[in-house]
Amino acid sequence: MYNSKIIGLGFYVPDNKVTNHDLSKIMDTNDEWIQERTGIKERRWIKEGTEDTSAVMGAKAAKIAIERAGLTKDDIDFIVFATLSPDYFFPGCGVQIQDMLEMRTVGAIDIRNQCSGFIYAMSTADQFIKTGMYKNVLVIGAEYHSNGLDKTTRGRGVSVIFGDGAGACVLTRTEDNTKGILSTHLHSEGKYAEKLVVETPSIRHWIPQILENKKEDTSYFPYMDGQLVFKHAIVRFSEVINEGLEKNNLSASDIDMFIPHQANLRIAQFIQKKFRLTDDQVYNNIMHYGNTTAASIIIALTEAWEKDKIKENDLVVLAAFGSGFTWGSVVIRW
Ligand code: UT7
Repeated sequence: MYNSKIIGLGFYVPDNKVTNHDLSKIMDTNDEWIQERTGIKERRWIKEGTEDTSAVMGAKAAKIAIERAGLTKDDIDFIVFATLSPDYFFPGCGVQIQDMLEMRTVGAIDIRNQCSGFIYAMSTADQFIKTGMYKNVLVIGAEYHSNGLDKTTRGRGVSVIFGDGAGACVLTRTEDNTKGILSTHLHSEGKYAEKLVVETPSIRHWIPQILENKKEDTSYFPYMDGQLVFKHAIVRFSEVINEGLEKNNLSASDIDMFIPHQANLRIAQFIQKKFRLTDDQVYNNIMHYGNTTAASIIIALTEAWEKDKIKENDLVVLAAFGSGFTWGSVVIRW
């Protein structure tokens, strides 16, 4: 069996910075509350009238990743695209990437696993490579949240958290089983589906809702039971990190770089403390980009790599928890 390893990384975020102070002008919130509860100082929101969407940002990140991999678009055998904010209800963003990058008619799938989306996407790509079906797989995570948020005081518990952006990597086949993705671990618990959810559009009730167009209808906006999500997140993050370490006969002290899904700096700090990791062993950038859901891990991984914080042979652990509930981890020997 083959292994898969990352050979190219890239990310793209829109230029438009929105600070906590900017948000306090459009809703009843303030910098102190947002920083204290989430660690976020600013996020990027696509400016109206620009070309960016989830697929467009994904394509921009993908181009960088392919170039850094030393490949061309024609070397890519398969596309995996993770997002909860696709350009269309259907088809998915993966096929748009095939078109935007003028790629061969390779297969493309979309992964709908929200905050765990990139972990699920990497795991999916890894399976295709391990079995020998594909050699080079392009994996993208992208989110265009800002157009779907309730930017009034009613929605402040959610809207201040989320940001727009995209990241991508190229996974390739290696015959060296000591390097690359060592293991991936995926979980879900659907009984909590409605605890972090956007109900509409959905085939169940969007047509009547759109026709009636009630201004007070909030089902178009994300709903989150924040405290419940927080409580589950810290438990599941810990479990799934331990699962990855145990599978590979490793312990927390072996971790060179831990990259958590950027949901909330307080969650990341809790996990850091629990696993006794130093600041050098964890990379966070939620302060600058907010929570970019399926894009957060790959943006952080790329940024950490660009800053030379990840070196050959390092043990890198990625982990995520979010809507579904879904959670997962990836253990990589760089
Ligand atoms: O990425 C997917 C996974 N997501 C997560 O892991 C998120 C997990 N949850 C969280 O990070 C936290 O629950 C939040 C950051 C979302 C919220 O923090 P919290 O400490 O749980 O606050 P809360 O929702 O309990 O609200 C506390 C108070 C409320 O006021 P009262 O009822 O105490 O008077 C809210 O109305 O804070 C108020 N509030 C705000 N105030 C200022 C809520 N949002 C805001 C805001 N600005 N933006």
